[in-house]
Amino acid sequence: MSEHILVETKDRVTRIELNRPDKKNALTTGMYAAMAEALLAADADARVRAVLIHGQPGCFCSGNDVKDFLTLEREPGASPASGFLRALSTARKPLVAAVDGPAVGIGTTMLLHCDLVYAAPTARLQLPFVPLGLLPEAASSLLLPRLAGYQRAAELLLLGQPFSADKALAAGIVSEIVPEGELPERARQAALALAALPPASVRMTKALMKREAAAAVQERITEELQLFGERLRSPEAKEALGAFLEKRKPDFSRFS
Ligand code: COA
Repeated sequence: MSEHILVETKDRVTRIELNRPDKKNALTTGMYAAMAEALLAADADARVRAVLIHGQPGCFCSGNDVKDFLTLEREPGASPASGFLRALSTARKPLVAAVDGPAVGIGTTMLLHCDLVYAAPTARLQLPFVPLGLLPEAASSLLLPRLAGYQRAAELLLLGQPFSADKALAAGIVSEIVPEGELPERARQAALALAALPPASVRMTKALMKREAAAAVQERITEELQLFGERLRSPEAKEALGAFLEKRKPDFSRFS
Protein backbone atom coordinates (compact mmCIF):
# COMPACT_ATOMS: atom_id res chain seq x y z
CA MET A 1 0.00 0.00 0.00
CA SER A 2 1.06 3.59 -0.56
CA GLU A 3 1.09 6.32 2.09
CA HIS A 4 -0.41 8.49 -0.63
CA ILE A 5 -3.56 6.40 -0.93
CA LEU A 6 -5.69 6.02 2.18
CA VAL A 7 -8.26 3.24 2.20
CA GLU A 8 -10.96 2.73 4.78
CA THR A 9 -14.03 0.50 4.76
CA LYS A 10 -16.91 1.58 6.95
CA ASP A 11 -20.70 1.25 6.75
CA ARG A 12 -20.33 -1.02 3.65
CA VAL A 13 -18.48 1.72 1.74
CA THR A 14 -14.80 1.61 0.82
CA ARG A 15 -13.36 5.09 0.78
CA ILE A 16 -10.26 5.66 -1.36
CA GLU A 17 -8.58 8.97 -0.62
CA LEU A 18 -5.87 10.36 -2.90
CA ASN A 19 -3.44 11.87 -0.42
CA ARG A 20 -0.49 13.57 -2.05
CA PRO A 21 -1.67 17.19 -1.82
CA ASP A 22 1.80 18.76 -2.15
CA LYS A 23 1.83 17.43 -5.75
CA LYS A 24 -1.89 18.05 -6.26
CA ASN A 25 -2.46 14.28 -5.93
CA ALA A 26 -0.36 13.41 -9.00
CA LEU A 27 -0.43 9.63 -9.33
CA THR A 28 2.73 7.54 -8.98
CA THR A 29 3.22 3.85 -9.74
CA GLY A 30 2.70 3.02 -6.06
CA MET A 31 -0.54 5.00 -5.94
CA TYR A 32 -1.93 3.24 -9.03
CA ALA A 33 -1.06 -0.12 -7.48
CA ALA A 34 -2.68 0.82 -4.16
CA MET A 35 -5.86 2.02 -5.87
CA ALA A 36 -6.07 -1.12 -8.01
CA GLU A 37 -5.63 -3.26 -4.91
CA ALA A 38 -8.33 -1.33 -3.03
CA LEU A 39 -10.78 -1.60 -5.93
CA LEU A 40 -10.20 -5.34 -6.36
CA ALA A 41 -10.51 -5.89 -2.60
CA ALA A 42 -13.78 -3.93 -2.51
CA ASP A 43 -15.17 -5.96 -5.40
CA ALA A 44 -14.22 -9.23 -3.70
CA ASP A 45 -15.47 -8.33 -0.22
CA ALA A 46 -19.15 -9.21 0.23
CA ARG A 47 -19.44 -6.62 3.00
CA VAL A 48 -18.61 -3.77 0.62
CA ARG A 49 -21.39 -2.37 -1.54
CA ALA A 50 -20.00 0.88 -2.92
CA VAL A 51 -16.69 2.69 -3.37
CA LEU A 52 -16.09 6.41 -2.86
CA ILE A 53 -13.07 8.08 -4.48
CA HIS A 54 -12.02 11.56 -3.41
CA GLY A 55 -9.11 13.89 -2.71
CA GLN A 56 -8.95 16.87 -0.36
CA PRO A 57 -10.86 20.16 -0.43
CA GLY A 58 -9.62 22.00 -3.52
CA CYS A 59 -7.67 19.04 -4.91
CA PHE A 60 -8.89 15.92 -6.67
CA CYS A 61 -6.06 14.69 -8.91
CA SER A 62 -3.49 16.33 -11.23
CA GLY A 63 -3.12 13.16 -13.30
CA ASN A 64 -0.13 10.93 -13.82
CA ASP A 65 3.06 12.18 -12.18
CA VAL A 66 4.76 14.08 -15.01
CA LYS A 67 8.24 13.21 -13.73
CA ASP A 68 7.34 9.51 -13.87
CA PHE A 69 6.25 9.99 -17.49
CA LEU A 70 9.77 11.12 -18.33
CA THR A 71 11.86 8.87 -16.13
CA LEU A 72 10.12 5.49 -15.84
CA GLU A 73 11.42 2.83 -18.19
CA ARG A 74 8.50 0.92 -19.62
CA GLU A 75 7.57 -1.40 -22.40
CA PRO A 76 4.89 -0.03 -24.76
CA GLY A 77 1.54 -1.14 -23.38
CA ALA A 78 2.93 -1.89 -19.91
CA SER A 79 1.81 1.24 -18.11
CA PRO A 80 1.79 1.59 -14.30
CA ALA A 81 -1.81 2.78 -14.77
CA SER A 82 -2.97 -0.38 -16.54
CA GLY A 83 -3.85 -2.44 -13.43
CA PHE A 84 -5.79 0.50 -12.02
CA LEU A 85 -7.62 1.07 -15.31
CA ARG A 86 -8.59 -2.61 -15.56
CA ALA A 87 -9.83 -2.70 -11.96
CA LEU A 88 -11.72 0.57 -12.39
CA SER A 89 -13.31 -0.26 -15.73
CA THR A 90 -14.44 -3.74 -14.65
CA ALA A 91 -15.60 -2.88 -11.12
CA ARG A 92 -18.89 -4.64 -10.45
CA LYS A 93 -19.87 -2.43 -7.54
CA PRO A 94 -20.90 1.21 -7.91
CA LEU A 95 -18.21 3.88 -7.84
CA VAL A 96 -18.86 7.39 -6.56
CA ALA A 97 -16.42 10.27 -7.07
CA ALA A 98 -16.21 13.68 -5.37
CA VAL A 99 -14.30 16.17 -7.53
CA ASP A 100 -12.96 19.45 -6.22
CA GLY A 101 -10.19 21.59 -7.71
CA PRO A 102 -7.99 20.11 -10.44
CA ALA A 103 -9.00 16.86 -12.14
CA VAL A 104 -6.40 16.51 -14.89
CA GLY A 105 -5.69 13.66 -17.31
CA ILE A 106 -6.55 10.42 -15.57
CA GLY A 107 -8.12 12.63 -12.88
CA THR A 108 -10.84 13.27 -15.46
CA THR A 109 -10.78 10.03 -17.46
CA MET A 110 -11.31 7.91 -14.34
CA LEU A 111 -14.64 9.72 -13.90
CA LEU A 112 -15.88 8.15 -17.15
CA HIS A 113 -15.85 4.81 -15.29
CA CYS A 114 -17.58 6.08 -12.15
CA ASP A 115 -21.32 5.74 -11.70
CA LEU A 116 -22.07 8.91 -9.74
CA VAL A 117 -19.80 11.95 -10.04
CA TYR A 118 -20.29 14.97 -7.79
CA ALA A 119 -18.28 18.10 -8.46
CA ALA A 120 -17.77 21.39 -6.66
CA PRO A 121 -18.32 24.54 -8.76
CA THR A 122 -14.58 25.13 -8.42
CA ALA A 123 -13.67 21.81 -10.04
CA ARG A 124 -11.36 22.33 -12.99
CA LEU A 125 -11.18 19.40 -15.35
CA GLN A 126 -8.73 18.93 -18.19
CA LEU A 127 -7.73 16.32 -20.76
CA PRO A 128 -4.32 17.70 -21.77
CA PHE A 129 -3.10 14.61 -23.62
CA VAL A 130 -2.67 16.27 -27.02
CA PRO A 131 -0.95 19.42 -25.68
CA LEU A 132 1.44 17.05 -23.88
CA GLY A 133 2.26 15.21 -27.11
CA LEU A 134 0.34 12.17 -25.84
CA LEU A 135 -3.09 10.75 -26.60
CA PRO A 136 -6.18 9.85 -24.56
CA GLU A 137 -6.25 6.84 -22.22
CA ALA A 138 -8.75 4.93 -20.06
CA ALA A 139 -10.87 4.32 -23.18
CA SER A 140 -11.74 8.03 -23.14
CA SER A 141 -11.31 8.16 -26.94
CA LEU A 142 -14.26 5.76 -27.09
CA LEU A 143 -16.33 6.77 -24.06
CA LEU A 144 -16.21 10.57 -24.27
CA PRO A 145 -17.59 10.91 -27.83
CA ARG A 146 -20.36 8.47 -26.87
CA LEU A 147 -21.15 10.36 -23.70
CA ALA A 148 -20.77 13.95 -24.81
CA GLY A 149 -21.24 13.75 -28.59
CA TYR A 150 -18.37 14.01 -31.05
CA GLN A 151 -17.96 17.80 -31.20
CA ARG A 152 -17.95 18.29 -27.43
CA ALA A 153 -15.48 15.41 -27.04
CA ALA A 154 -13.30 16.75 -29.84
CA GLU A 155 -13.07 20.15 -28.18
CA LEU A 156 -12.09 18.64 -24.84
CA LEU A 157 -9.69 16.03 -26.23
CA LEU A 158 -8.08 17.93 -29.12
CA LEU A 159 -7.64 21.37 -27.58
CA GLY A 160 -7.06 19.86 -24.14
CA GLN A 161 -7.83 23.08 -22.28
CA PRO A 162 -9.20 23.22 -18.70
CA PHE A 163 -12.99 23.24 -18.41
CA SER A 164 -15.48 24.05 -15.69
CA ALA A 165 -17.79 21.86 -13.65
CA ASP A 166 -20.69 23.38 -15.64
CA LYS A 167 -19.12 22.25 -18.90
CA ALA A 168 -18.43 18.81 -17.43
CA LEU A 169 -22.07 18.59 -16.40
CA ALA A 170 -23.20 19.53 -19.91
CA ALA A 171 -20.84 16.89 -21.36
CA GLY A 172 -22.30 14.23 -19.06
CA ILE A 173 -19.04 13.64 -17.16
CA VAL A 174 -20.50 14.99 -13.93
CA SER A 175 -23.84 13.91 -12.40
CA GLU A 176 -24.41 16.98 -10.23
CA ILE A 177 -22.70 20.17 -9.10
CA VAL A 178 -22.74 20.59 -5.34
CA PRO A 179 -21.71 23.65 -3.27
CA GLU A 180 -18.07 23.21 -2.24
CA GLY A 181 -18.67 22.86 1.51
CA GLU A 182 -21.34 20.23 0.93
CA LEU A 183 -19.41 18.07 -1.54
CA PRO A 184 -17.81 15.47 0.79
CA GLU A 185 -21.08 14.84 2.64
CA ARG A 186 -23.19 14.74 -0.55
CA ALA A 187 -20.86 12.16 -2.09
CA ARG A 188 -20.71 10.15 1.14
CA GLN A 189 -24.51 10.13 1.40
CA ALA A 190 -24.79 8.94 -2.21
CA ALA A 191 -22.37 6.08 -1.48
CA LEU A 192 -24.32 5.19 1.66
CA ALA A 193 -27.59 5.29 -0.31
CA LEU A 194 -26.14 2.88 -2.87
CA ALA A 195 -24.85 0.67 -0.04
CA ALA A 196 -28.34 0.49 1.48
CA LEU A 197 -29.97 -0.75 -1.73
CA PRO A 198 -30.45 -4.43 -2.66
CA PRO A 199 -26.83 -5.26 -3.64
CA ALA A 200 -27.50 -7.83 -6.37
CA SER A 201 -29.98 -5.50 -8.06
CA VAL A 202 -27.43 -2.70 -8.02
CA ARG A 203 -24.65 -4.90 -9.43
CA MET A 204 -26.88 -6.42 -12.12
CA THR A 205 -28.22 -3.03 -13.22
CA LYS A 206 -24.68 -1.65 -13.49
CA ALA A 207 -23.59 -4.72 -15.46
CA LEU A 208 -26.54 -4.38 -17.86
CA MET A 209 -25.83 -0.69 -18.47
CA LYS A 210 -22.15 -1.42 -19.12
CA ARG A 211 -22.51 -4.66 -21.08
CA GLU A 212 -22.77 -3.29 -24.59
CA ALA A 213 -19.51 -1.37 -24.35
CA ALA A 214 -17.60 -3.69 -22.00
CA ALA A 215 -15.49 -5.60 -24.56
CA ALA A 216 -14.87 -2.50 -26.68
CA VAL A 217 -13.71 -0.59 -23.58
CA GLN A 218 -11.12 -3.25 -22.71
CA GLU A 219 -9.90 -3.37 -26.31
CA ARG A 220 -9.59 0.40 -26.48
CA ILE A 221 -7.71 0.55 -23.16
CA THR A 222 -5.19 -1.93 -24.58
CA GLU A 223 -4.80 -0.05 -27.86
CA GLU A 224 -4.49 3.35 -26.17
CA LEU A 225 -1.87 2.02 -23.70
CA GLN A 226 0.22 0.72 -26.57
CA LEU A 227 0.05 4.01 -28.47
CA PHE A 228 0.49 6.06 -25.28
CA GLY A 229 3.75 4.23 -24.53
CA GLU A 230 4.97 5.02 -28.04
CA ARG A 231 3.98 8.68 -27.76
CA LEU A 232 5.78 9.02 -24.42
CA ARG A 233 9.06 8.36 -26.23
CA SER A 234 8.28 10.92 -28.94
CA PRO A 235 10.24 14.20 -29.17
CA GLU A 236 6.91 16.08 -28.98
CA ALA A 237 6.08 14.57 -25.58
CA LYS A 238 9.63 15.10 -24.30
CA GLU A 239 9.39 18.79 -25.20
CA ALA A 240 5.92 19.19 -23.62
CA LEU A 241 6.65 17.29 -20.39
CA GLY A 242 10.09 18.85 -20.02
CA ALA A 243 8.54 22.30 -20.41
CA PHE A 244 6.07 21.56 -17.59
CA LEU A 245 8.84 20.50 -15.21
CA GLU A 246 11.01 23.47 -16.22
CA LYS A 247 7.98 25.77 -15.80
CA ARG A 248 8.26 27.18 -19.33
CA LYS A 249 6.08 27.27 -22.43
CA PRO A 250 6.60 24.32 -24.79
CA ASP A 251 7.74 25.03 -28.34
CA PHE A 252 6.38 22.66 -31.01
CA SER A 253 7.46 24.81 -33.99
CA ARG A 254 10.21 22.39 -35.12
CA PHE A 255 7.91 19.36 -35.42
CA SER A 256 6.17 18.35 -38.64
N1 COA B 1 3.03 15.48 -11.86
C1 COA B 1 4.04 15.87 -11.04
N2 COA B 1 3.98 16.98 -10.29
C2 COA B 1 2.85 17.72 -10.37
C3 COA B 1 1.78 17.38 -11.19
C4 COA B 1 1.89 16.19 -11.96
N3 COA B 1 0.91 15.77 -12.75
N4 COA B 1 0.81 18.31 -11.05
C5 COA B 1 1.27 19.20 -10.17
N5 COA B 1 2.50 18.85 -9.76
C6 COA B 1 3.36 19.54 -8.78
C7 COA B 1 3.92 20.83 -9.36
O1 COA B 1 5.11 20.57 -10.11
C8 COA B 1 4.21 21.58 -8.07
O2 COA B 1 5.37 21.04 -7.51
P1 COA B 1 6.45 22.01 -6.77
O3 COA B 1 5.68 22.62 -5.62
O4 COA B 1 7.52 21.06 -6.34
O5 COA B 1 6.87 23.02 -7.80
C9 COA B 1 3.04 21.18 -7.16
O6 COA B 1 2.55 19.94 -7.68
C10 COA B 1 1.89 22.17 -7.16
O7 COA B 1 1.50 22.37 -8.51
P2 COA B 1 1.19 23.83 -9.13
O8 COA B 1 1.31 23.72 -10.61
O9 COA B 1 2.05 24.84 -8.43
O10 COA B 1 -0.32 24.00 -8.66
P3 COA B 1 -1.46 24.86 -9.38
O11 COA B 1 -2.61 24.88 -8.42
O12 COA B 1 -0.91 26.17 -9.88
O13 COA B 1 -1.89 24.01 -10.67
C11 COA B 1 -2.47 21.98 -11.84
C12 COA B 1 -2.43 22.72 -10.49
C13 COA B 1 -2.89 20.56 -11.55
C14 COA B 1 -3.47 22.69 -12.76
C15 COA B 1 -1.07 22.05 -12.49
O14 COA B 1 -0.10 21.63 -11.51
C16 COA B 1 -0.90 21.15 -13.68
O15 COA B 1 -1.31 21.50 -14.78
N6 COA B 1 -0.28 19.97 -13.48
C17 COA B 1 0.08 19.07 -14.56
C18 COA B 1 -1.07 18.22 -14.92
C19 COA B 1 -0.71 17.28 -16.02
O16 COA B 1 -0.29 17.67 -17.08
N7 COA B 1 -0.89 15.98 -15.74
C20 COA B 1 -0.64 14.91 -16.66
C21 COA B 1 -1.91 14.58 -17.36
S1 COA B 1 -1.71 13.38 -18.65
